[in-house]
Amino acid sequence: MTRGTAVVTGASSGIGAATARALAADGWEVIVGARRVDRLKALAVEIGATAHPLDVTDAASVDAFVASVGDCRLLVNNAGGALGLSPIADADEGQWRTMYDTNVLGVLRMTQRLLPALEASGDGQVVTIGSIAGYEPYPGGAGYNAAKFAVRAVMGVLRQELLGRPVRVCEIDPGMVETEFSLVRFGGDAPRAAAVYAGVEPLTADDVAECVRWVASRPPHVNVDQLVVLARDQAGARQVHRRPT
Ligand SMILES: NC(=O)c1ccc[n+]([C@@H]2O[C@H](COP(=O)([O-])OP(=O)(O)OC[C@H]3O[C@@H](n4cnc5c(N)ncnc54)[C@H](OP(=O)(O)O)[C@@H]3O)[C@@H](O)[C@H]2O)c1
Repeated sequence: MTRGTAVVTGASSGIGAATARALAADGWEVIVGARRVDRLKALAVEIGATAHPLDVTDAASVDAFVASVGDCRLLVNNAGGALGLSPIADADEGQWRTMYDTNVLGVLRMTQRLLPALEASGDGQVVTIGSIAGYEPYPGGAGYNAAKFAVRAVMGVLRQELLGRPVRVCEIDPGMVETEFSLVRFGGDAPRAAAVYAGVEPLTADDVAECVRWVASRPPHVNVDQLVVLARDQAGARQVHRRPT
């Protein structure tokens, strides 16, 4: 029995790919989107999903993606990430603009366009991947912090605006998850990315995917508003326990 159609953005790696796998295994008809179409297609073949190119910063790309969707009961706004770790004094405005465009406006574009289908399903759900960075600022994080704080505000507003209508709104806020996140943040610098996880047992993409799967499988009257999930080795954005390596 199918649970309906689930759209997962940013499914070419990390949390998005793991979420697509978990939802497909749970009986969802999954549609995946991202910019790296070769990876998406391989994933789609593996799990029996449908893949379409998607750049959430490009309104025309979002329109074309949504035009191919049809019915939809679950939207997972996962596409996003951080760029750089510079203090505000040296911040790169272009990186900030891209982070806002991807993490915040991308969520707006996808949610706005899929809301009619989500509502028409009679039990729609928006699940957005925020971050612990949306609760706790940290030095060097301002651009990403600002974007994830903004996402949390947007989800809070959306939940209020949809009150009385059949669409649930959930935000899942992970701490450190070992994916390509740090590689992207540090412009492909693999040693610097690996150092982020040195001596720590971070969350895996599958750990977060399991949260999405669980939230999406609650009965229609249950809205999990926010779910903060951290590794045992992490007690906040800046508090990380590291073992000697
Ligand atoms: N890893 C962590 O520690 C962590 C912690 C908290 C929250 N998060 C959040 O979790 C989400 C997933 O990140 P991840 O850890 O899985 O990192 P990741 O492995 O780098 O995956 C990021 C995904 O987002 C996609 N993406 C980026 N820009 C996009 C765009 N303009 N249009 C469409 N897709 C785009 C990427 O695909 P393409 O490049 O192929 O487009 C990729 O599939 C992000 O929102 C991130 O902020 C991550």
